[in-house]
Amino acid sequence: LQFPEKLDTDQLRASRGSLAIGEEYTLDGLHFNGSLPGPTVHVKKGERFQVQFHNDIGEESIIHWHGMIVPPDMDGHPKDVISEGRYSYDFNINQRAGTYWYHPHPHKITGPQVYRGLAGFFIVTDDEEEALNLPSGKYELPLVIQDRKIDDTGQIYYDPSMPERMMTGYLGEHILVNGIPNPYHEVQPRPYRLRLLNGSNARIYNIAFRNEHLFTVIGSDGGLLPKPVETTELLLAPGERADILVDFSKGFTGKSAELISRKFSISSDGGMMGGMAQLMGQEGPDQGSEFPLMEFRIGNEADSSTSVDLPQQLSNVNFPSRTDAVRKRTIELNMEMMRGHTINGRLFEMLRVDEEITQGDTEIWEFINNSPVPHPMHIHAVQFKVLNRSGNRGLIPTETGWKDTALVMPGERVRVIMTFNAPKGLYVFHCHNLEHEDAGMMANLEIT
Ligand code: C2O
Ligand code: CU
Ligand code: CU
Repeated sequence: LQFPEKLDTDQLRASRGSLAIGEEYTLDGLHFNGSLPGPTVHVKKGERFQVQFHNDIGEESIIHWHGMIVPPDMDGHPKDVISEGRYSYDFNINQRAGTYWYHPHPHKITGPQVYRGLAGFFIVTDDEEEALNLPSGKYELPLVIQDRKIDDTGQIYYDPSMPERMMTGYLGEHILVNGIPNPYHEVQPRPYRLRLLNGSNARIYNIAFRNEHLFTVIGSDGGLLPKPVETTELLLAPGERADILVDFSKGFTGKSAELISRKFSISSDGGMMGGMAQLMGQEGPDQGSEFPLMEFRIGNEADSSTSVDLPQQLSNVNFPSRTDAVRKRTIELNMEMMRGHTINGRLFEMLRVDEEITQGDTEIWEFINNSPVPHPMHIHAVQFKVLNRSGNRGLIPTETGWKDTALVMPGERVRVIMTFNAPKGLYVFHCHNLEHEDAGMMANLEIT
C-alpha cells in the first residue's frame, strides 16, 4: 500500500448518473481498488427513479435507499431479499434535496456486504437548493468515510470476533475516504461543499480540521438545515450524513488543510466513565481517539468570483410540533449476555410487527440506551427531528435539521418527533452499527 494516494474524484464524477433512469445495475463484490464507493446516483425531486437490480454475488441481498421515503416493496426490507436474478425498483422522488445513500439490507449479512464495498451516494436536488448556488461541479465533493482492515496483500477482510459481533462492532485500522486510505485532494483557495457520509460499520468520527478551523454545516441526513451553523467539530455516526461548506481561502496556513477525527467521549456526560466502545487489544485507533482522515492541498489559483453568500434562512422547514404528537413510544436498548443488543427486549424477527403506526400520525419516540456502547438509531420511511437528549451533549449542528439516524450514547435518552406519511406497509428501524443490526438489533414498524 502506498500512502498517501490521490483521491480520484474524477472517477467519482464520471460515474455520476451511471445508475440512471432505466439503466441496469449489477451488484458485484467491489474490492479495495478504487472502485469504492459505488456509482453516485443523481436525481431531482419530482423525477421517477427506475433501476434493475441484478444480484450476481451468490448470496441473498436487496438494496435499501437510506433516507428515501418510498413504498414498502421499494425500501429493501430484508424479507424482500433475492438470492439471484433481479429486482425492479421504480419509485418517484417525492422528497427534498439531500445527501441520501444506498446499501444492501439482507438480514444478518448487511455488515459484510457493505464492508466489501456495496454502498453509494444517492443525491437528490430540488429547486429550493439550486436557487442557493452552492459550490458545485468539481467544488462539490461527496466523501464517504469508512474504516477497514486490510491484509498484507492489500485486500480488505471481514472477520469479526464474537465480541465484535455482539458488543462493539467491527473497527478497522485504516481510514478510507472514497475507498482510498488517508488520501489527499488538490483544492483551490475558495469555498467547497463537502457531502460527508459515515459509511463505516461501527466507527464514529468527530469531523474537524487539525487547526480548529471553522466550517459551516448546511445540511444533515434529510437535506438543508433551516440556518447555517458554524462549528469546529461535528460527530458523525454510522449512517449519518453532513453537508458542510469549507472555505480554503481563509485561515489555513502552509497550503494544507488536514481533515481529522478529533477525540470525543463515549458517554452521556462527557466524562470518560461509562462507555465501552471497543475491546482490549483491538487493532487500529480507539473509538473516540484522534486520527487523520484526509488532506486538502491548497493550490494558488485565486478566483475572486467564487465566494458563497449564504442567506440567513437556508431552507423552509416545518418540523412537527410536540402538540401534534398523538403517541409516545419508549424504545429501550439493552445489551444482554449471549443475546447481544436488544430493542425492547427482543431480537429481530422477519415478520413480527413490533410497532404499529397509523398513517399520518405524529409520534414522539424516546430511545433509551442502557448498554455500554453507542447506538446510532435509524428509522426507515421517515425523517425526524431530534427534540432533546439527556446529559451534557445537547443537540449537535446536524440535529437542527431533518434526520433519519441519531446517535444515542451509553446512558443517554434521545427523543425524536416525526410524522409517518409513507405508504402503508412494513418497514424496519434498527441500530446502524451494522454488526449490531446483523445480530438482531432491528425491529419492524408497520404503517396501517
Ligand atoms: Cu442505512 Cu436500514 O439502513
Ligand atoms: Cu435506511
Ligand atoms: Cu447498536
